[in-house]
Amino acid sequence: MVIVLGIESTAHTFGVGLVRDEAPYIISDVRENYLPEKGGIHPREAALFFMDRAPQAIARALKSSSLGIESIDAVAVALGPGLGPCLRVGATIARALATYFNKPLVPVNHAVAHIEIGKLVTNAKDPLVVYLSGGNTLIAALISGRYRIFGETLDIALGNFMDTFVREVGLAPPYVVNGVHQLDRCAEKGRRILNLPYVVKGQDVSFSGLLTAALRMYREGRADLEDICHSVREIAYSAIVEVTERGLAHTGKNEVLVVGGVAASKYLREKFELMTKSRNCELYVVPPKYAVDNGVMIAWTGLLNLKHGITIEPEEAYVKQRWRLDQVDIPWSK
Ligand code: FE2
Repeated sequence: MVIVLGIESTAHTFGVGLVRDEAPYIISDVRENYLPEKGGIHPREAALFFMDRAPQAIARALKSSSLGIESIDAVAVALGPGLGPCLRVGATIARALATYFNKPLVPVNHAVAHIEIGKLVTNAKDPLVVYLSGGNTLIAALISGRYRIFGETLDIALGNFMDTFVREVGLAPPYVVNGVHQLDRCAEKGRRILNLPYVVKGQDVSFSGLLTAALRMYREGRADLEDICHSVREIAYSAIVEVTERGLAHTGKNEVLVVGGVAASKYLREKFELMTKSRNCELYVVPPKYAVDNGVMIAWTGLLNLKHGITIEPEEAYVKQRWRLDQVDIPWSK
C-alpha cells in the first residue's frame, strides 16, 4: 500500500490530506481556513495564519489516521498556481518534511488536483472539465497527455466576479451562507433581466465589463439590487454554459465535470443539467466538500504523480504562482 501526505496552501486554506492507493482512498482531511475580517484575501496575513496553524494541522492529520510520519511514502505539495506568500508556506513545510524524514517530494499543480479529486469522487472517466473558483474559470479536457484549455476567462474569474460584486453592494462578507452564495440568494428575489453586457469571445468569457456595468447601475440607483443580482447571475452563468457546450461539440466528450468552489451553486447546476441533457451527456458536479480547496486533492494527485515517477528534489521545488494547467504533463492519461 502506498500512502501520501498532501499539503495545500495556494490561497485561503491550509489543508493536510492523507490518502492511500486502496479503497477507502481518503484517510485524513484537516483544513484551516483563513477568513479576512473585511475585503479579500491579504496574502501576507493568510501566510502568517498558515504558519501559525500548520504544525498542529499536520499533527492532527497524522493522529486522526493513527499513522506515524514513518508510514508515509511521500510528501506532496501544491507548488502553484496561487498566492506567492501562501504557496511558500506549504512549500517550505513540505521541503522540510521530505528532507528531514527522507521521503520523496512530489510537486502538484493545484488545478490538476481539483480535476483529479473531482474524477475520484464522482467517477467521471474522461470529462470535459469546467473549473470554476475564486481564481480560475476555464474549460479543459485531457487530450494527448495534457489538460488542454478550450476556453477561459479573459480577465477575472467567475468566483472573484461574484465575490467582488456582492462585497461592493454590501451583501458580503460572508460570501456564502449555509452553502448558498449571496449572489444566488439575492438573485432568487429578482425578476427582470436588465440590459447588461454579455461577453463571450470565441471560446472565452469576460466578466470585468459586466462587473463595472452592474456596479454602476446599482450606484446610480437605476434598478433594484434583486433585479441586478438576478440579471448578473443569468448572464454570467449562461456565458459559462455556452462555452462549455461549444467545448463539448469541439472535443466530442460525452461527460461534463464541474469542479472548484463555484460548483456548489444549485442554479448553475440546473443550467448545466438542461444543456447536458439536450446533448445526451452525463453531468458530474463535485460535492461541495471536495469542490473547495483541501489537502486530500493534493495528496491524491501526488499519489498519481508518484506512481508515474514524478518527484522533485527539495532544492528545486520552487513555487510557481502562474503555473498553468496546460503546462503539466499527465502521464496517467494513457
Ligand atoms: Fe482552488
